[in-house]
Amino acid sequence: MTDLDTLERSLLEQIGQASDEAALETVRVSALGKKGAVSELLKTLGAMTPEERKERGPLINGLRDRVAATLGSRREALQAAALDARLASERIDVTLPLREAPEARGRIHPISQVIDEITAIFADMGFSVAEGPDVETDELNFTALNFPEGHPAREMHDTFFLAPDHLGRRKVLRTHTSPVQIRTMRAVEPPIRVIIPGRTYRHDSDQTHTPMFHQVEGLVIDRQANIANLKWVLETFARAFFEVESVGMRFRPSFFPFTEPSAEVDIQCSRKGGEIRFGEGTDWLEVLGCGMVHPNVLKNCGLDPDQFQGFAFGMGIDRLAMLKYGMPDLRPFFEADVRWLEHYGFRPLDVPSLVGGLTA
Ligand code: DAH
Repeated sequence: MTDLDTLERSLLEQIGQASDEAALETVRVSALGKKGAVSELLKTLGAMTPEERKERGPLINGLRDRVAATLGSRREALQAAALDARLASERIDVTLPLREAPEARGRIHPISQVIDEITAIFADMGFSVAEGPDVETDELNFTALNFPEGHPAREMHDTFFLAPDHLGRRKVLRTHTSPVQIRTMRAVEPPIRVIIPGRTYRHDSDQTHTPMFHQVEGLVIDRQANIANLKWVLETFARAFFEVESVGMRFRPSFFPFTEPSAEVDIQCSRKGGEIRFGEGTDWLEVLGCGMVHPNVLKNCGLDPDQFQGFAFGMGIDRLAMLKYGMPDLRPFFEADVRWLEHYGFRPLDVPSLVGGLTA
């Protein structure tokens, strides 16, 4: 075997063993690079006699061509293998579910959801939203709403009183959202159409009562706002809120100092298997208080009862949420347990609206 055969065999073997393109390049340089074994052989041709060159030239050039061709095909094979490996490692399963974006992962508390739903429904009827402070004066929480001094109704509210100021006046944590009726009537001219969602406080705690809870108040003042209008507003609200075709409603005479006449409203439901359903059944469930605004209240706000009249209503938001979404106990609402919120909470990007749907 000639030295050329030995070199060729050795080079082809190295090419075959090169396991990646970098290793292959090292072999190429050692053979065909400037100082490579084959290049050195080619350089010897110049010093040969014509006869020697005639014989050795084709042998060396043939060697060079075969080595170059083998290098080329080995490179192609290595590139194809590298691409296959990369495709395999970067493969994605497009049938996997999408991971939620961070802004979509949080949950809206059922109370916030229900406030948004109520607001959407009343906004559609032309109501705007009014607000007042949680810490309220005794005057606005009681007196201006026609609770006489020393009247037992004040005690019935289980009021939280704050420490008296230097004049002996005690502020209260508002026991209902009704004081915002007074604030609104004193601040804007009729016609008035507002709802007032907000926090309220009473010294009370069991499965369906927490010391802090939520109410939504409604107030309409105009020259001719009457009980028929009140009934229509409440029925329209109940149908939209409970997402049923029709809701049976029962108005029972009642008493509130700030309305005359006053009523409590029950809605028709069924309670089969411990589950409450609306729009069917023979049971009744109390959901709100309402009435025509008392003339004394209008006067306390500088409105002439011979010119203006109106109606008001108030309901418990927490209770509406429990009823609509089947939550049996009120206390977990305020325990800030993330697992509870993940179960009962709502998706932040599903904003309730009458056109898009209240509950997506
Ligand atoms: N403020 C009452 C309560 O907390 C609820 C209520 C009853 C509000 C009748 C009203 C109303 O506006 O007209 O018990």
